[in-house]
Amino acid sequence: MFLHKSYQLESIKFINYIDLNDDELQLILTWRNHPDVRKWMYNTDEITLTEHIEFCKKLKLTNNKGYWLVQMGNESIGTVNINPFYPEKNEGEWGFFLNPKHFKSDAVLMLFYYSIELFFSELKLDQLRGYVLKTNISSLILNDFFGMVENVEDSQNKNEYSSRKLTRAEWKLLNRNSDNLKTQFAKFVKNYRLKQ
Ligand SMILES: CC(C)(COP(=O)(O)OP(=O)(O)OC[C@H]1O[C@@H](n2cnc3c(N)ncnc32)[C@H](O)[C@@H]1OP(=O)(O)O)[C@@H](O)C(=O)NCCC(=O)NCCS
Repeated sequence: MFLHKSYQLESIKFINYIDLNDDELQLILTWRNHPDVRKWMYNTDEITLTEHIEFCKKLKLTNNKGYWLVQMGNESIGTVNINPFYPEKNEGEWGFFLNPKHFKSDAVLMLFYYSIELFFSELKLDQLRGYVLKTNISSLILNDFFGMVENVEDSQNKNEYSSRKLTRAEWKLLNRNSDNLKTQFAKFVKNYRLKQ
């Protein structure tokens, strides 16, 4: 099942939680419980180690969730997930967070770009969806930059969340390139600020 496998795209590794040992899972939990990460999650509570390990062990028994540790070189930069995956539409809702050590670095651009590449080019999903708190400006800017457009009607229904979506065809058209992400993103943020 594709949601249970690990992947590598160029130098970026996506190691499925199923393939991680307890020490690695514990490290991920420290990021997930960091106040600057959990404040943006659907569930803002601290998660216990027992709950986390239980959740991760069940992943191999479910066919609608995939969770991956993302490594750039030998650095663990964050995690991404598809939860849930809707097989009838071949679409997934995705989420991500960084290792807090890599906040305010270029790591997030690599994580975002290669995750979308993984979902569309490798796993051949037709559409990605995401929900971002309307106060999570960093994530909203990244979503805008990577073409995750707002589904305005759905956002209105979701109150505090901005509903985002991107199809595989739209991603190909956007033609983002891993070589010049940093420069492109810097220009994008500058324009964004000018418009405020
Ligand atoms: C969201 C997350 C991945 C962002 O990564 P980050 O490296 O901390 O991103 P930054 O805060 O540097 O923000 C990205 C860009 O937006 C800009 N930005 C952030 N807040 C801004 C604001 N209020 N106004 C204008 N620009 C802003 C930043 O300046 C930055 O651009 P720069 O590097 O050119 O300066 C990371 O903070 C994280 O993992 N958060 C917790 C989990 C999370 O929110 N996940 C997403 C759920 S939808």
